[in-house]
Amino acid sequence: MTRQFGRARLILLLLVAIAVGAGGFVAWKIRARSPHPTSDDQFSLPPFSESRYLNTGTEAHYIGTAACAKCHRDNYLSYLHTAHSRSLAEVDPDAEPPDGAFDHQLSGRSYRVYRKDKQLRHEEVLRTAQGQDVTRVDLPVRYRIGSGHFTRTYLVEIDGFLHESPITWYSSRSKWDMSPGYDFADHWGFDRPVGASCVSCHAGRAEAVDGTLNRIAFQEQVIGCENCHGPGSLHAALRRSQNLAPKAEDLTIVNPARLPRPRLEAVCGACHLSGPATVALRGRTADDFRPGMPLTDYRIDYRFDGVEELMTVAGHMAQLRKSVCYQKRESLTCLTCHDPHAGDVPKNETAFYRQKCLGCHTVEACSLDQVQRLAKDPTDNCLICHMPRGATEFPHLAFTNHRILRNPVARPPGLAPGRALLPSDSSGQAPNLVPTDDNIQLSPLDRQRNLGLAYFEASGNPVYVRSGYAGAFHERALQLLEKVDAAGLADGETAGALANLYWEKDHALAAVYARKALQSSHLSAEARVSSLLKLAGMDMQDRQFEAAGRHLAEVVRLQRAAGDWYFLGLCYLQQNQPSQALPALQQSLSIRPDRSAVHARLAEAYRLLGDDQRATEHREKANWLFKEHGD
Ligand code: HEC
Ligand code: HEC
Ligand code: HEC
Ligand code: HEC
Ligand code: HEC
Ligand code: HEC
Ligand code: HEC
Repeated sequence: MTRQFGRARLILLLLVAIAVGAGGFVAWKIRARSPHPTSDDQFSLPPFSESRYLNTGTEAHYIGTAACAKCHRDNYLSYLHTAHSRSLAEVDPDAEPPDGAFDHQLSGRSYRVYRKDKQLRHEEVLRTAQGQDVTRVDLPVRYRIGSGHFTRTYLVEIDGFLHESPITWYSSRSKWDMSPGYDFADHWGFDRPVGASCVSCHAGRAEAVDGTLNRIAFQEQVIGCENCHGPGSLHAALRRSQNLAPKAEDLTIVNPARLPRPRLEAVCGACHLSGPATVALRGRTADDFRPGMPLTDYRIDYRFDGVEELMTVAGHMAQLRKSVCYQKRESLTCLTCHDPHAGDVPKNETAFYRQKCLGCHTVEACSLDQVQRLAKDPTDNCLICHMPRGATEFPHLAFTNHRILRNPVARPPGLAPGRALLPSDSSGQAPNLVPTDDNIQLSPLDRQRNLGLAYFEASGNPVYVRSGYAGAFHERALQLLEKVDAAGLADGETAGALANLYWEKDHALAAVYARKALQSSHLSAEARVSSLLKLAGMDMQDRQFEAAGRHLAEVVRLQRAAGDWYFLGLCYLQQNQPSQALPALQQSLSIRPDRSAVHARLAEAYRLLGDDQRATEHREKANWLFKEHGD
């Protein structure tokens, strides 16, 4: 028993490590959603910024795109032409790419996309060398992320929980293949949760239900008018009442074109500004943001200091800001080149964008000889040299480089994911994170907290694990957050991060922080899940299986993950309750059927229940999986 438990503990540590890693990755964009305002701490945050617009406060509520469309038919039609209106869709099997199949060498799994009973289905199978099926997951696909311009990524919904599918369609290659980030041996399969943070940029408005991590309710499925103009209830009421004096300015709705540049950028930046880390202010959430307000009222984005070219993150805004054109001309904004109401795409894109350059430059301003330019491109396409497209097909990698550089030759060639993150001086030292926008409105303590959480987030991102920076980020996070905690700032996210950061070194201390996090009046689902897992891990180590089971029962309510159900099953087995262990272990297998340890426990449960035939079946699978896949 002890030996078995030793192994289980090893797996537990492993899975917790994975959960932390994945959590960190998911936390990439996570902002806690909590209705409670900050209340339980003596350190207060600065109030929300002032705004001229009346729909930036809580009085205005959302009325939905359909309501705006009734009065603004032209704006609605032009919006329908943009990718924003197709950012997230319920899958229509007739409109998706053809059926297909492929093998993934690294994980040894085979994938298939097919249609059945008016459903698009994604299937993952693990076979023996003789072609015999060992495990299979076969699920209907519910949503598609992405207009399909570059890639189509799919979401499955099971028991109300959203997960990413490991299968993605790549338009440029006309091919099904592994989803971005899944090209490694022990990838997530269908086990990767898709929380509110993930869909927050692709949906109009989405919210996790009941404090869960990935049971998502869409208040508005597709990005809509109010994502850029703010909630419309006051405006619709005013326009219906016709109480607005002629020529008076309508302050009930935001027109982004009238905003000063920083606040216009915040409208687009809510989704188009993204870097190595984004941290929500204490007690504030994405829900608190309204177009017309600065992003820094609710979140701080971070970038690396001194690292030249960062193309591994959706960085249109960060790149543009580095351009001399942008720095020298306050009037240069996203709207100079992109109009969300432009209607159809320009017929001649080269001429269209060249004209944008020529709005500020003359043809002669280019110091490269015209003969040489025309030799390279007969249309004298400024973009080819000054704003080239990357060869990448990965979403969030910024396809068109928005840094308008003087000397195109100085730009590093196509950067592979991960590689781009090495600092340009290649000193090997992990780069420093700095806030993208000024955050001096915050107290030094809050700035420390945010920076610590930013390092914590980056330390869990697989990209920085691969580039070797995760360790340094971990240490910096620990140092900063320890100080913040010692200064007495009551903050659940800080305690939750400390629980993670201490986990490997000192389980008992980690548990203290996990408890502290769980006492906080508002805590993100991610921090809640990871804190509960720490407590469960501690209890299992101390052989307190009932207590561990209670924590795990709460975890499986918050997220649907194979590892949690497995440990819940294990706790029941340890308490000699095989009939309770059975459904938990089966649930684990329905999510990830290819874990040898789960089959082994299931064999044990069946044996205890007197079903020798099933016990033997699962024992054989467990042995095969362990031999062939080592887990
Ligand atoms: C009852 C009709 C009605 C509804 C509903 C309505 N609007 Fe308007 N809106 C108007 C009218 C009329 C104007 C002024 C004329 C114009 O610009 O079209 C206007 C003006 C605007 C402007 C320009 C404001 C400015 O100062 O430049 C924006 C932006 C706008 N509406 C967005 C929206 C959005 C977004 C919604 C949905 C949340 C919406 N409207 C719902 C009638 C309506
Ligand atoms: C709610 C999130 C969100 C906001 C706010 C937002 N975008 Fe986007 N935008 C997206 C997403 C997601 C895509 C990719 C859609 C796809 O291809 O599936 C996108 C695509 C684009 C594209 C390329 C596709 C196209 O239609 O040409 C441009 C350009 C763009 N956005 C500009 C802007 C500008 C300018 C603003 C601010 C006025 C803005 N966006 C605000 C989320 C957002
Ligand atoms: C910070 C906002 C943000 C978050 C969070 C985000 N995305 Fe995106 N995503 C974008 C924007 C903006 C684009 C389009 C421009 C780009 O690719 O740079 C995009 C593009 C995509 C595309 C390609 C669409 C196309 O037309 O080819 C896919 C697929 C995608 N995202 C999937 C996801 C998934 C899955 C998640 C959650 C793990 C996610 N995104 C989280 C902002 C975001
Ligand atoms: C991606 C962001 C975005 C979305 C989504 C969006 N708008 Fe706009 N809208 C803008 C911007 C930016 C402007 C200012 C355009 C300019 O003047 O350059 C604008 C301008 C307007 C105006 C002012 C009149 C005009 O045409 O200049 C109205 C009215 C309007 N939008 C209505 C809507 C409605 C209705 C929807 C939904 C069907 C919608 N918008 C969706 C960004 C957006
Ligand atoms: C000087 C002109 C210019 C400005 C300013 C500009 N863009 Fe672009 N943008 C482009 C060009 C050119 C493309 C490529 C268009 C194409 O190939 O269809 C592009 C493409 C995009 C795309 C589609 C994905 C991609 O990488 O090709 C997104 C998203 C985008 N821009 C967002 C933004 C945002 C957000 C801003 C403001 C921070 C902005 N752009 C400012 C010129 C500009
Ligand atoms: C809103 C005005 C504006 C737009 C639009 C604009 N630029 Fe510029 N650009 C400037 C200004 C101002 C400078 C600073 C030098 C100067 O005063 O001429 C500059 C500088 C440059 C430089 C020199 C950069 C350096 O590092 O020294 C290049 C190259 C350039 N622009 C190319 C372009 C191209 C290509 C486009 C179109 C994609 C473009 N610009 C669009 C205003 C603009
Ligand atoms: C074949 C590639 C190529 C094309 C096409 C091209 N450029 Fe350039 N451009 C260059 C190079 C290379 C330089 C820098 C030359 C040098 O170092 O003096 C440059 C320099 C510039 C500068 C900075 C000039 C200065 O004195 O600081 C501007 C502005 C500029 N280009 C604008 C444009 C515009 C606008 C277009 C389109 C009408 C364009 N370029 C098309 C390659 C190109």
